[in-house]
Amino acid sequence: MRDGFLGFRTSFMLDFVVVALVVVVPILLYSLAAAKFQKRFPLHRNLQLLLAAVLLVAVLAFEVDLHYIQGGWRNVVAKRDPPFTSEEMAFVQRMLGIHLVFAISTPILWALTLTLALTKFPNPPVPNAHSRWHKPLGWASALVLTATSITGLMFYYTAFVRGAN
Ligand code: HEM
Repeated sequence: MRDGFLGFRTSFMLDFVVVALVVVVPILLYSLAAAKFQKRFPLHRNLQLLLAAVLLVAVLAFEVDLHYIQGGWRNVVAKRDPPFTSEEMAFVQRMLGIHLVFAISTPILWALTLTLALTKFPNPPVPNAHSRWHKPLGWASALVLTATSITGLMFYYTAFVRGAN
């Protein structure tokens, strides 16, 4: 049985969120370049809002699917053939722990960066006194999202792809 559309024993939503995590990184890079080099701040704002909306929808759908429909990642992993040894299971669990550190801090930092930017920059947005806060917050938000994406893909690979038939 191959439930995910990427060809592994996962689920449609799990594969969907994996694709979303890959797609958001180039859009993020483009949006940061629009602010830093092209000074196209309205485009940068719109892309950041779009990214936040896409991520919110993808992650909510993913959480509902994984926890309520699939019964948790252990259930998904249980479909593996051959099954994991207890050492392999412990390794996968460590990978998930690392991923969750980034996956939990990302929405918190993004919500803070977005709310402050939307309230402290004028409309249309241009640099002002808030730039002092927005630049470090923005870079930190971009970094944790990238780390969420990379560690999420590493978890997906170790839990669902590596060594499975
Ligand atoms: C989570 C969402 C966001 C992230 C991750 C983000 C990230 C960044 C980063 C890293 C920079 C600095 C680029 C550089 O080093 O020159 C920047 C600049 C800027 N961003 Fe954002 N941004 C976000 C949302 C927004 C929003 C919603 C607005 C407008 C309401 C906005 C307006 C600006 C402006 C005006 C600058 C230029 C600041 C300056 O050069 O002084 N950003 N953003």
